[in-house]
Amino acid sequence: MMTIDGKQVAEKVLAECAEEIKALAAAGVTPGLAVVLVGEDPASQVYVSSKVKKCGEMGLHSRKIVLAADATQEELMAVVRELNADPAIHGILVQSPPPPHIDEDAVVRAIDPRKDVDGFHPENVAKLVLEDPSGFVPCTPAGCMRLIAESGISTVGAEAVVVGRSMIVGKPMAHLLVAKGSDATVTIAHSRTRDLAAVCRRADILIAAVGRPEMITADFVKDGAVVIDVGINRVKDESRKSGYRLTGDVAFEEVAPKCRAITPVPGGVGPMTIALLMSNTIKAAKLANG
Ligand code: GUN
Repeated sequence: MMTIDGKQVAEKVLAECAEEIKALAAAGVTPGLAVVLVGEDPASQVYVSSKVKKCGEMGLHSRKIVLAADATQEELMAVVRELNADPAIHGILVQSPPPPHIDEDAVVRAIDPRKDVDGFHPENVAKLVLEDPSGFVPCTPAGCMRLIAESGISTVGAEAVVVGRSMIVGKPMAHLLVAKGSDATVTIAHSRTRDLAAVCRRADILIAAVGRPEMITADFVKDGAVVIDVGINRVKDESRKSGYRLTGDVAFEEVAPKCRAITPVPGGVGPMTIALLMSNTIKAAKLANG
């Protein structure tokens, strides 16, 4: 059993980014990322801060824009329009999920697709499905693909099962796995899938992206499977100073012994998401500067 070290692979991606940032700097370009947070969700606050912090470490320009939880749709749309027009900003990210009164789909559609480093705009979704490399691929699934590749695991001809059908992870992940070059046979499973455990047991590569702590137990996993755990769940833990600990969608202790390879939480997919966000921001800066 191999535990996949997401921090180490993320460092490799970030080292590649550093090279590209140097080349852009020589051409007088500093990639810029704007991160927009609406409301005070504690997990989202952590994600947004770590994205902005990483920009600083990498020498990228960044802006963090925080709107109150009761900000209106129009206020948020105005922020997006301003960022679309700002030449120092190459990437725009609105942290998901926004408060329930916000129409997230309308916000995503308002982002200039050339600045959509999350890859959520319909134009970029279409490019992913069309396998057009000029688009932006959502950071988390792109990070999962890189983790699998860097671990020396071939997806060609493999049975891949993606649990979860979100537009952020599940659906783009399935498209990446089935795309030419990756060549997996893909099943997308979800909360309404009949006999989910049996479907998951078919998987050579199992991607857990459901957002339910430790839902994937040993009986969901075939011997020798590769398990990628996308979940970052906060569960109550009075023994911690914070009052909680982070756990994945996979019951790591019981699943790991059955696996060929597995990602831990934390330290698996999480660091890759930020690394790929830096990579997408650099791609956007190149796009804007020919
Ligand atoms: N919420 C959880 N993951 C993501 C992500 O990759 N991007 C954005 N914008 N929100 C998220």
